[in-house]
Amino acid sequence: FNLTVLISGNGSNLQALIDACGTSALPSTRITHVISNRIKAYGLTRAKNASIPTTYHNLVAYKSKHPSNPEGIAAARTEYDADLAKLILDSNPRPDVIVCAGWMHILTPDFLNPIAEAGIKVINLHPALPGEFAGAGAIERAWEAGRKEGLKRTGVMIHEVIAEVDAGDAIVTAEVPLKEAETLDDLEERIHKIEHELIVEGTRKTLES
Ligand code: GRF
Repeated sequence: FNLTVLISGNGSNLQALIDACGTSALPSTRITHVISNRIKAYGLTRAKNASIPTTYHNLVAYKSKHPSNPEGIAAARTEYDADLAKLILDSNPRPDVIVCAGWMHILTPDFLNPIAEAGIKVINLHPALPGEFAGAGAIERAWEAGRKEGLKRTGVMIHEVIAEVDAGDAIVTAEVPLKEAETLDDLEERIHKIEHELIVEGTRKTLES
């Protein structure tokens, strides 16, 4: 199987996938392309260290071709997403699955539709449970809810990507209990460890389905 992984940051989940490929956790699977929307993403270095081809897909370049008003930004995002799909559909081999691993760019139907038509699945890691804390900063929002509203647990999920943010069907989920007087850093550390397990399990389940 072939994977394309989309990243925006540190890439610790990408690293978990790199380490799992070819083992019993992800047999006969390889990452054939890593794409980042941020040039400084350390995940690009992780990919290069693993001899995986990388692409920096730069949204700023698209925005600079349009007026910086809502219509111009919408036009830039449409072109950006359509070109991202083309980039992937023109790659050889094409991926069986696209994994969003710490990818911080909302994917619109301009991307999702051509990818779905090609029969390629898109999955995403989100550090919350289905229906909770959609969007950015999910871990911190759960931590706050633990301190202020007595929330007992949060979680992590791998889900199918649809146009609505963090709302596609869950493929695998894991609950994470919130601990009294735990620092945000400590919660994040516990959650990232679970992310690294779930990203591999969720990818394997998707490839097997
Ligand atoms: C995840 O919690 C993801 O949701 C958020 O950052 C973490 C991924 O980090 N964007 P990494 O880039 O995989 O290390």
